[in-house]
Formats: sequence, C-alpha cells, structure tokens
Amino acid sequence: MKKIGIFYGTTTGTTAEVAREIAKALNVKPEDVKDVAKTAPSAVGDYDVLILGASTWGAGDMQGDMAEFLDGLESVDLRGKDVAFFGVGDEQMSDTFCNAVGEMYYRLRNTGANFIARYNVDGLEFRHSEAMVGDLAVGLLVDTTNHPEITGRRINEWCELISREI
Ligand SMILES: Cc1cc2nc3c(=O)[nH]c(=O)nc-3n(C[C@H](O)[C@H](O)[C@H](O)COP(=O)(O)O)c2cc1C
Repeated sequence: MKKIGIFYGTTTGTTAEVAREIAKALNVKPEDVKDVAKTAPSAVGDYDVLILGASTWGAGDMQGDMAEFLDGLESVDLRGKDVAFFGVGDEQMSDTFCNAVGEMYYRLRNTGANFIARYNVDGLEFRHSEAMVGDLAVGLLVDTTNHPEITGRRINEWCELISREI
C-alpha cells in the first residue's frame, strides 16, 4: 500500500482545514499531514504519494510558506512519486482564482513526478485560473466562502479519484 503525505501552506487556516478533511477521507494519519511552514522539503522522501495544497493571495500569488517550500522541492527528484494538488481560494478574485494550484503544477513539472487527480470545476464561477488545463483543473479547487454547500462532496469525490489513480 502506498504511503500518502499531505503538505499544505496556509495563512488563516482554511487550507489546513481542507487538508484535514482530505486526510479523513483517505485515512491519512494526523502525523502525515504537514504544515510546510514547519517542514523541510526533504520530508517528502518518506512518502509515495504527495498531496500538496496552498491558498492564493495578493493578485494571484502563491501562499508564502508554500512558495518557500517549493523553492526547495523543485530541485528534489520526485520520480516514482504520485503528486496531487489542491487549493483554496475566493472565486470573487475571478481572474486569479486558485492560481497557486497552477503555479505548484508548473514549478514541479521538471521533477519527474507523476501528476494525478485532475478534477472538474463544476459549480464554481470564475473567469480565469492558472490551474486550468482545458476543461479540468490540475487538481481540486475549493471555495469555502462562496460554495460551502458543495465543498464536502467535492473533497470526497476527489479523494475517490486519488484512490483509483494510485
Ligand atoms: C488580500 C487577499 C487576496 C486574495 N487573493 C486571492 C486570489 O488572487 N485568488 C484566490 O483564489 N483567492 C484569493 N484570496 C482568497 C484566499 O485565498 C482565501 O481567503 C483562502 O481561504 C485563504 O486560505 P488560507 O487561510 O489557507 O491561507 C485572497 C484573499 C485576500 C484576503
């Protein structure tokens, strides 16, 4: 069985909450859910599957702790690892919705990782996101402010997708 680690960057705690929901759905133990502000990028070596989550700030900017974490992670050899992304944002920032998810994906493109769990954006309303490739996002995009009613179902569906793809 593959070992899953969840790594998140959060400023006000929302991405941490979503990370815990994902952990529950996938039976990941609390000690395998890591705040990247307190974690070295080399910690990913303990896992076969990495689930990376970050919020978006400023005008489409990566959450600060995850930005630093990625500085280290983009030079780590991730060959043989499955990597899934999730992000929390506010669709009222309609031109930069969850851009951080796209940034994680593009920054890790040369690590050799196997990217998994692209997912739909049904029910969300925004003009543009760097996370979109065609009709799908490169991971799970969540807006707990404007769409709390669909968040739980989407998290569970996305986790089922991960279970099928790993
Ligand atoms: C000043 C500011 C700028 C923001 N910019 C964006 C943005 O460009 N795109 C987006 O999707 N969300 C944006 N957000 C929304 C945050 O990503 C959202 O509040 C998120 O839940 C924060 O998650 P965190 O507490 O895990 O950091 C912004 C929020 C603030 C307060």
